[in-house]
Amino acid sequence: MINGSSLPLPDRRYASRLTAIGSHVPGRVLTNADLERLVETSDEWIVQRTGIRERRIAAESEFTSHLAIQAVHNLAERYAADLTDVDLIIVSTSTPDFSFPSTACLVQEHFGIASPLAFDLSAACAGFVYGLQVADGMIGSGLCRKALVIGAETLSKITDYTDRTTCILFGDAAGAVLLERDDRPDAGPAFLAYTAGSDGSGAPHLYRSLTVPAPDGTGLQAGGKLVQNGREVYRFAVQTVPLGVQALLKQAGMSIAEIDWFIPHSANLRIIESVCDKLGIPLERTLHTIERLGNTSAATIPLALDQGVREGLFRSGDRVLLFGFGGGYVHGGLVMNWKELPAPGE
Ligand code: UT7
Repeated sequence: MINGSSLPLPDRRYASRLTAIGSHVPGRVLTNADLERLVETSDEWIVQRTGIRERRIAAESEFTSHLAIQAVHNLAERYAADLTDVDLIIVSTSTPDFSFPSTACLVQEHFGIASPLAFDLSAACAGFVYGLQVADGMIGSGLCRKALVIGAETLSKITDYTDRTTCILFGDAAGAVLLERDDRPDAGPAFLAYTAGSDGSGAPHLYRSLTVPAPDGTGLQAGGKLVQNGREVYRFAVQTVPLGVQALLKQAGMSIAEIDWFIPHSANLRIIESVCDKLGIPLERTLHTIERLGNTSAATIPLALDQGVREGLFRSGDRVLLFGFGGGYVHGGLVMNWKELPAPGE
């Protein structure tokens, strides 16, 4: 059983600031009606049990690095962001193009960024929050100044479209943020509290093996699909997320009423509703992308954050609580102290 353990905030020398955000989804839409033609299921069952109506699927030749790169292009165009001096790239993903080189190196090469520290981070659906924590810690300690943190997935590549218990859930997408050292004289912290934890006893309930038994029984071959015990993972989520959120609030010295926006990982609308009900968080203050994009693992949180930015929902000083959870088991949360994003070119 995972608990809601909080992490001490780093003994920081520098504050950080989110200065740009972007996202990208592939063009192909896979609806519940499409899935009715693939497996024994119904739109009614999927909507009632998950809240999902459609998801996006990458083309055969489109991989996680392509979605990550498009999300960074979107970020750079919207904010006229200068990427030349980025010194840290983290791509959180469970579906990298290669075991190595990292997806982060492919992003670096595409944008011609000069020699940043670049690596992929494997923490399933908590990956984006873990990535923000690592980047904020490195900026805070002075090791880096400017970080691209990306959550990107092509889960369709590892989804078994004959398994109705999983294929209804997953989709492909990417979201990216730029996190920079904030040298303004009155700069407060961008993050007020962290929580993170892991429990490897959850491994049998949600995993993707890199090898599977060969059909001729002679050994192993590459290319396993995602396997999930949905009920077990559901139980883990509805127990862990409220504990994690409470640990975060304790560390921040805040009450739930002081949280302006809640962005949980979009795994299943029923999980989100149950967590909000347990914690007393109004659904109108909760942002998610489950209905139109399904579960995009490490991408769900930056996608919902970007949705909030595009809709102009956040005001300076707003408390935005992000919470990811998933395969491992892992969980990670953050309370953000929202700072207005700079105007393009500022
Ligand atoms: O991001 C990573 C973390 N992942 C998650 O958070 C996922 C957590 N789990 C879930 O979201 C849910 O467990 C599922 C959506 C995967 C399944 O929903 P459920 O309400 O837990 O269904 P269940 O597994 O208890 O199955 C109920 C029934 C079963 O039939 P019987 O045994 O009662 O006759 C299933 O065979 O629903 C059946 N079923 C389906 N029926 C129609 C399972 N999948 C489907 C389907 N369409 N797609």
